[in-house]
Amino acid sequence: MTTSSADAFVFFGATGDLAYKKIFPALQSMMRRGELEMPIIGMAREGWTLDTLRARARDSVTHNGGIDADAFAKLSARLTYVGGDYNDPSTYARLKQALNGAARPLHYLAVAPSVFGTVVRGLAAAGCAADARVIVEKPFGRDLASAQALNRALHEVFPESSVFRIDHYLGKEAVQNLLYFRFANAFLEPIWNRNYVESVQITMAEDFGVQGRGRFYEEVGAIRDVVQNHLLQILVLLAMDPPTGHDPEAMRAEKLRLFRAMRPLDPADLVRGQFRGYRAEAGVAPLSQVETFVALRLHVDTWRWAGVPFYIRAGKCLPITATEMIVTLKHAPLSIFDAVAPAAPNYIRFRLSPEVVISLGARVKHPGDDMRGEPVELVARHLLAGEHSPYERLLGDAIRGDATLFTRDDNVEAAWRVVDPVLGAAAPLAEYEPGTWGPASAATIIAGANGWHDPHAEETEPC
Ligand code: BG6
Repeated sequence: MTTSSADAFVFFGATGDLAYKKIFPALQSMMRRGELEMPIIGMAREGWTLDTLRARARDSVTHNGGIDADAFAKLSARLTYVGGDYNDPSTYARLKQALNGAARPLHYLAVAPSVFGTVVRGLAAAGCAADARVIVEKPFGRDLASAQALNRALHEVFPESSVFRIDHYLGKEAVQNLLYFRFANAFLEPIWNRNYVESVQITMAEDFGVQGRGRFYEEVGAIRDVVQNHLLQILVLLAMDPPTGHDPEAMRAEKLRLFRAMRPLDPADLVRGQFRGYRAEAGVAPLSQVETFVALRLHVDTWRWAGVPFYIRAGKCLPITATEMIVTLKHAPLSIFDAVAPAAPNYIRFRLSPEVVISLGARVKHPGDDMRGEPVELVARHLLAGEHSPYERLLGDAIRGDATLFTRDDNVEAAWRVVDPVLGAAAPLAEYEPGTWGPASAATIIAGANGWHDPHAEETEPC
């Protein structure tokens, strides 16, 4: 592998949805920042022309963040288009020509995983893979066996050090802030373990449905779509031990240790739900058993976390769009002031989106003669302004060859091992009304703890 910067950016799936929603806007921003001084080649099966691709790119940036006339003009000037069948060697021969001598291309496979093998073999046969890197999109497989098969297909051509598996959650400012907060503050470490932590909850709520992606969603469902990747990744960042050293591999090695300590899920640890109306979506089977909601309980078998339940909940058509984690601490050992009922325990809340907030839930005395208390939150709010979007950040890292925020082969396989036993219809499916917090049975997953914490609209004044 080379650690020098890539000298061409090639993206497969240039006419697709992801390119439209995320890639073109990221490329425009990178162009504005001067981070993309290289040829940009859009690849697709469709028989488009460079002009139709440019028009699509213009439409994309206009509808996803706004056009920046200067940056877009540069992007448009650097863009070339190569169309053709991914099974046909002549497609890659034309790519080779378009690369025009570039020696370290970065190939981004924004295509279905079923095509990964074909594309990487095509790249190798045409001489476009030597000293190149490859970025692959999620979902990386549909279970452990298919992920292993994909890894083998990629490794036929690319060494692991040249493979960049993307999980856009890892490119989010808030997710990096979580990592930073944990390992840049000394006060947290003494309490960050089973002696002080009662439970951990992660909720990823979305107030919308599958937004026309019914066909895609039928193939995945909530566990494959967001739990195996985004939510297990943030659980790892919350629970892992600090890495030693600054090497990206040190971070990935610590993450792996945590992934491997997660106990594979049991169907009894899981409630699956489907919102009423999902089966009427285009591309969805009339009797679909695919879950649009999941609530689960997970255990991490390490000395740090033994006995601490980790609860995860994710769903479409819930009351709000927000992703939040709550680390609830154990009660104070004696209830001196609140004689009637024990006061709510302290907690640390990480709001990952749409706002970026870290807060500490505590109690203070209510003013007056009585020793009565009330809950307060000490809040650190991060006002987002001018940060890189996750795709901008991750594409930039891949261009520079920094793999820290990408998922290594063993990490992705370890994450599949956790969810493998509960994929498909392993647990029964319950219907829920759109706009609610999923099926009532989700409460059984967390029985005994203080119940699910439902994220609510965040106050927005700066503090
Ligand atoms: C994607 C999922 O990976 O993440 C979508 O496929 C989900 O179903 C999306 O809506 C959420 O990402 P974000 O960045 O909007 O929270």
